[in-house]
Amino acid sequence: MGHYDLVIRSYNPHKDRARVEDLQRRCEVGPAERGLLFTDTLGDPICRIKNSPVYNMLVAELGNHLVGVIQGSIKLVTVHKPPKDLAWVGYILGLRVAPLYRRRGIGWKLVIKLEEWFSVNGVGYAYMATEKDNEASFKLFVDKLGYVKFRTPAILVNPVSHRMSKISSSFEFEKLKVEEAESLYRKFMSSTEFFPSDIGNILKNELSLGTWVAYRRGESWGATCPSSWAMLSVWNSGELFKLRLGNAASSCLMYTKSSQLMEKVLPCFKLPAIPDFWQPFGFYFVYGVYGEGPLSGKLVRTLCRLVHNMAWKSKDCKAVATEVGGSDTLRHYIPHWKLLSCPEDLWCIKALKNKERNNLLEMIKTPPTISLFVDPREV
Ligand SMILES: CC(C)(COP(=O)(O)OP(=O)(O)OC[C@H]1O[C@@H](n2cnc3c(N)ncnc32)[C@H](O)[C@@H]1OP(=O)(O)O)[C@@H](O)C(=O)NCCC(=O)NCCS
Repeated sequence: MGHYDLVIRSYNPHKDRARVEDLQRRCEVGPAERGLLFTDTLGDPICRIKNSPVYNMLVAELGNHLVGVIQGSIKLVTVHKPPKDLAWVGYILGLRVAPLYRRRGIGWKLVIKLEEWFSVNGVGYAYMATEKDNEASFKLFVDKLGYVKFRTPAILVNPVSHRMSKISSSFEFEKLKVEEAESLYRKFMSSTEFFPSDIGNILKNELSLGTWVAYRRGESWGATCPSSWAMLSVWNSGELFKLRLGNAASSCLMYTKSSQLMEKVLPCFKLPAIPDFWQPFGFYFVYGVYGEGPLSGKLVRTLCRLVHNMAWKSKDCKAVATEVGGSDTLRHYIPHWKLLSCPEDLWCIKALKNKERNNLLEMIKTPPTISLFVDPREV
C-alpha cells in the first residue's frame, strides 16, 4: 500500500464532494454487453441515501488520494412474519474502489467498517444487492465476507415512449391521500418481506408523487375493497440523480435508431419510439405494487400505463422502473423492456449478531413471501 496508511472515515461534504463525484464517474457498474450505467448525482454524492432515516457514507483515503467509497442506511423492516419478526437492517450500496487501487483489500475494509457502524447502531442484518454477473462484488461479499444469497427480485425497466399509452375505459382510478395509502399498505403489505415500518415517511416524502388504486368501472372504492383491485406508488428518482447509458449493446442501439426512424417515416405505425438513453435522463420508480382478485394483473398493467403517461408529460423522465419479488406473478403484467431489465437482481444478506445468525438460517430456508417491498429510498 506504498508508504501511506489507509484511512477510512466519514464523508465530509466540504472536503470530499468533488472527489467522490469524480470517483463515482470513473467506476462503471454493469455487464458490458448490456451497456454500462453511469449515475450523475447532480453535485450531491450522498443523494441516494439521504432520504433514509439513518445513513452514513465512508470514504477511504491513501495519502491525498480518495480511493474508495461506500454508503449505508438503516431501518426497521419485516423480515419474516409480523408482529414479532421485525428487524433492524442495514443496506449497503455505492461501494466503489478507484480502478488503480483495486485488489488491495480496500473494498473489503470499507465493508467491514460499515458493518461496524451498523453494529454500533443496533443492526441485526446487513444486506446488499448486486448484478448476478458482477464477479468482483459477488466474490467480495459472498466468498470473502460471508454474505449468503437471499432473494432474487426482478428489476423491470420500461422506456417512456413518444406516445401516450392507451388506457382501458373499463377501469377506474383513484389517487389516495397519504393517510389512506399508509393504512392500506399496513393492512395488506406489512407481512411482506422488507416492508419498512416507517412507510408513512416514504409516502410523505416530497419525491413520492402519490399512490393510486384501480378497480373495475361500476364498482366503488370505499369501506370494503372491490372484487379486484390493484395499487402502486410512484417515486421521482430523477429529482435526486440522473442516469446515462455508456456503452449499450448494438441491438439496443439499432432498435432505438430504427424505431425513431420508423416513427418519423410512418407516424401511424404503432411501434413505440425509444428515448435517447445516452444523454442524462430522469426516471420514476414504482413501488408498493399490490393487487387482489382475478383482474389484479390487468389492473396493475393499467396503473403502469397511467404512470407511463405521467412520465410522458414530465420534462426529463425517460424510463419507469420497478423491482418486484422474483416469484411475484404480478411482474408478468408490468410493461418492461428486456434489454434494460434484470430478471434476477441478487440480494445477499449477513447476520451481524449471534442471535440473528440462527434466525438467518431459518429465513434462508423459508420460501420468500410472494411480494417483496423494495424501498424507493434505496434505488
Ligand atoms: C467490487 C470492488 C468494490 C472491489 O474492490 P477491491 O478493493 O478491489 O476489493 P478487495 O481488494 O477488497 O477484494 C477482496 C476480495 O474480493 C474478491 N474480488 C475483488 N475483486 C475481484 C475481481 N475483480 N475478481 C474476482 N474477485 C475479486 C476477491 O476474493 C478479493 O480477495 P483476494 O484479492 O484476496 O482474492 C471494485 O472492484 C469496484 O469498485 N468495482 C466497480 C463497482 C462495483 O461493482 N461495486 C460493487 C457494487 S455492489
